[in-house]
Amino acid sequence: MITQFAAAPGVIDLAWGHPDPALLDPGIVAVAARDALARWGPDALGYGAAHGPEPTLAWLTGHLAALDGRAPEAGELIVVAGASQGLEIACSQLGAPGDAVLVPVPSYHLAIRIFQDHPFRLVPVAADAAGVLPDAAEAAARQVIAEGGRPRFLYLVPVCANPTGVSLPLDRRRAIVEVAERTGLTILEDDVYRELTLDGPPPPSLWSLGAPGSVLRLGSVSKTLAPGVRLGWLTGDRATIGRIARSGLLDSGGGLQHLMALVVTELATSGVYAQNLARIRAGLTARRAALADGLRAHAPETSFRMPEGGYFLWLRLPDGADPRALLPAATAAGVTWIPGERFAAGTEAGAAHARLAFSRNAPDALAEAARRIGTLLTPGRSGA
Ligand SMILES: Cc1ncc(COP(=O)(O)O)c(C=O)c1O
Repeated sequence: MITQFAAAPGVIDLAWGHPDPALLDPGIVAVAARDALARWGPDALGYGAAHGPEPTLAWLTGHLAALDGRAPEAGELIVVAGASQGLEIACSQLGAPGDAVLVPVPSYHLAIRIFQDHPFRLVPVAADAAGVLPDAAEAAARQVIAEGGRPRFLYLVPVCANPTGVSLPLDRRRAIVEVAERTGLTILEDDVYRELTLDGPPPPSLWSLGAPGSVLRLGSVSKTLAPGVRLGWLTGDRATIGRIARSGLLDSGGGLQHLMALVVTELATSGVYAQNLARIRAGLTARRAALADGLRAHAPETSFRMPEGGYFLWLRLPDGADPRALLPAATAAGVTWIPGERFAAGTEAGAAHARLAFSRNAPDALAEAARRIGTLLTPGRSGA
């Protein structure tokens, strides 16, 4: 295998949150790699500066300012190999085994896996359709403290969340950073979908609203360019970012993803990144519409809130339909999803839901997947 997964023949896979290969463009990366190597010569192939190469930091600083209204200052930004590695580094540098990490229910299931590796104690926090409930987060943090534990992190995907597709509203953003400041929590703001809101600009980041030290934000080009590039970044206060830059990992190996950072910088400064992102956004808009329209037409007994962007639609199945129990029959019928309980951090919440990725398949395949879901839920329906 070259890639992480390959869909089984005949199955429209809505389980993996991967981009459609049609949205990936090897040609632009080849040209940018050639140009980066010509521009920076052997420096592109040496050990890199700990925070990332200066041209990359300069590009990212302007880029993040345009996206968010607050530019990172010197020392507040570091390049990493994707948001997953950023999470892993945050956990290993800032956490200790047994620390509590608060996770709203539902939360991105593979971040939960990273937290379990450390191992942290997972503390589920209630959320409603708009996202995490600040009072519930505060109560959970205080409960951990009352039990003698340390509430170390609160993990959030506050723009086009995985799995719900919803962005946290501004009033909740303000409330949640105050909770972090009062309780000593560090918010891990997983912001990988910030550039993929499809109906309007995203709200300001928690990092831009929070006091220094209360938020560490993760970004990535995995969703906006290509996940194989493995390039991401962290923004945080200078002390935290400095600690990461001085870690043994970077001391030994130099800056992370040095060459790819320069390649992406070339793509960005030449304007190709923005052009390509427009193509990806148009592709996701068409895919979101195909899946949503298909579900409305063919599976009217299901319900969902239209995702604000990103990759995922969080589908509520009709009462009595169990998304986990239905999965074998769904796969046999040629469609797959991830059952909601995988995002529930050990609770029952979300058990009636399935996460459907609209990122991986072409619009016509997504329409067909919706038809198969409808037929599965109501056997005998014509499916026309
Ligand atoms: C919320 C969230 N965080 C992180 C990742 C992985 O990011 P990266 O590819 O930058 O490691 C994903 C990918 O699905 C995601 O949905």
